[in-house]
Amino acid sequence: MQLLDGKLLSQQIKLEIAEQVRTIKINGGKKPCLAAILVGNNGASETYVASKVKSCQEVGFDSKLIKLPADTTERELLTEINKLNNDDQVDGFIVQLPLPKHIREQKIIEAISPEKDVDGFHPNNMGKLALGLDGFVSATPNGIIEMLKRYNIPTEGKNCVVLGRSNIVGTPMSLLMSRKAYPGNATVTLLHSKSEQLREHLKNADIIIAAIGIPEFLKGNMVKEGAVVVDVGISRVPDASKKSGFTLKGDVKFDEVAPKCSYISPVPGGVGLMTVTSLLLNTLKAATRRHADK
Ligand code: GUN
Repeated sequence: MQLLDGKLLSQQIKLEIAEQVRTIKINGGKKPCLAAILVGNNGASETYVASKVKSCQEVGFDSKLIKLPADTTERELLTEINKLNNDDQVDGFIVQLPLPKHIREQKIIEAISPEKDVDGFHPNNMGKLALGLDGFVSATPNGIIEMLKRYNIPTEGKNCVVLGRSNIVGTPMSLLMSRKAYPGNATVTLLHSKSEQLREHLKNADIIIAAIGIPEFLKGNMVKEGAVVVDVGISRVPDASKKSGFTLKGDVKFDEVAPKCSYISPVPGGVGLMTVTSLLLNTLKAATRRHADK
């Protein structure tokens, strides 16, 4: 069994990005700039956004954090988005999800200019992904693809099961694994809450991407010998022995599943770190495109 080491990979990729930023600056260009909007005070969201801002600093990007109170109205948030759409200093931006209940998430996503939508959530970018056109692919699936590529995991003709059909992970992941490319060209099965014979599908899977958000859902007896398992789960489970009061748990029961795998990604230290790194890659792409157009 070999670990898919997100920490090591994300460090390597960040060095590569930093090198490209240096080249941009040597050539008289502007540093890429990522902005993030955070509404309210969801603990997990605050941690994720802080890590995105810190990663910008590590690679030499500019960053901008816009913190808004939980009672921000939809209209006020749309105004902030409009400002960022028109801010020439900002190459790409994200609105951290989930949003407070009184704000319609889809309305917000659709207000972001597709050229600055480095999360890849806008229907324009999701549509491009479905059609195999060049747009922004959302960060977590993109990070997983980068991970499979850099570990040379064979995917062509393999049975790939994606567990979970969220817009952020499961759906784009299933499109990426079935596209005509490497990594891709897999036979993809997308399993969800209404799927029957889950175990049969899983037992035939050469590659499993677990993204259902149920801690330790995938058990050892659900996985075939030699499978590649990518764990996207990152649930906060109460744990009184921890200073923070919680432990992070993936969707995979690691101790049982790992001995059967050829490769497996751990939680933490796996996909989560790749997500942040691929957001940086998307921002670099957005910046390069915008400045090439000028
Ligand atoms: N919430 C959980 N994952 C993500 C993500 O990738 N982007 C944004 N904007 N919010 C999230």
